[in-house]
Amino acid sequence: MGGMRYGLEGKVALVTGGSRGIGLALARELLAQGAKVAVCARKPEGLEAARRELEAVTRKLEEAGGAAESEGDRGDRDPGDLMAVQAHIAEEDQVERLFEAVLDRFGRLDILVNNAGTGVNKLVIETEEQDWDLVMSVNAKGVFLCSRAVAREMIRLQTRGKIINISSQAGKTGALYQGAYCASKAAVLLFTQVLALELARFGINVNAVCPGVVDTPLLDALCEDLARRSKKSVEDVKKALLRRVPLGRMETPEDVAKVVLFLASEDAGYMTGQAINVTGGMERH
Ligand SMILES: NC(=O)c1ccc[n+]([C@@H]2O[C@H](COP(=O)([O-])OP(=O)(O)OC[C@H]3O[C@@H](n4cnc5c(N)ncnc54)[C@H](OP(=O)(O)O)[C@@H]3O)[C@@H](O)[C@H]2O)c1
Repeated sequence: MGGMRYGLEGKVALVTGGSRGIGLALARELLAQGAKVAVCARKPEGLEAARRELEAVTRKLEEAGGAAESEGDRGDRDPGDLMAVQAHIAEEDQVERLFEAVLDRFGRLDILVNNAGTGVNKLVIETEEQDWDLVMSVNAKGVFLCSRAVAREMIRLQTRGKIINISSQAGKTGALYQGAYCASKAAVLLFTQVLALELARFGINVNAVCPGVVDTPLLDALCEDLARRSKKSVEDVKKALLRRVPLGRMETPEDVAKVVLFLASEDAGYMTGQAINVTGGMERH
């Protein structure tokens, strides 16, 4: 991601849902910025694939660091800069074990990106109780549990940390088939405001990012559901979504990552309680 530096060298970051999509891109970019990174997800296969991909990133950075060192620069990459933990963020005991593991390994935590999320694409009249509970528990309760855990540690260790919640444009404007999802993402936005108020006196910044239409497996699932309903092809559904994006291209996970890196940096030190749209112009309030 260009040569932009965000001053994150040596910081410790945890990205929930880091095994694919936006979370994986975030982990990659945080590593490239010199942060130590932990990722979590539920499924071991996805997590293992992500670990291998991220290890390759660290190895490349080490090689680059080694080359810089031989030119007189400091090569300070450590192969221990990465960890992948299996955890379900809506389960309190698993969240506690996750934070213990990260703290044990790295000794501190400067940045939490609450990225893990899930969706169910149904009309409200079709939505089952378990659909609602799943979406609310991962997207809303999961953010609460992880934020509470990190806030306690940041306060205890006097870390002037950053909490960044990945909400969605769906948290600001309702969309068809997204009843539970929109409600859960709106919950994240108000929770962000409250947590920002409560943690301000500890110097901890809490902000949210609202992406639009990002090319990830989650979007593929949405497009497949919409295609099935409208008897159109997935390609046509994607094209129709794209026509609604003023900037005229699909959002990439890296578009989201750039804003998250900024919010994780000291340059965003005077921002807290905000919900930043990164939607190519689709969302404007
Ligand atoms: N893609 C978009 O267009 C878009 C737009 C706006 C906002 N967002 C938000 O951005 C975030 C990332 O989305 P994405 O598109 O990258 O999704 P994705 O491709 O489906 O990836 C979701 C990640 O979260 C993990 N995850 C899901 N449930 C979890 C749980 N209960 N505990 C721990 N990890 C869990 C998944 O791994 P496992 O399945 O193995 O757990 C995976 O690593 C989500 O919060 C999403 O709502 C996405």
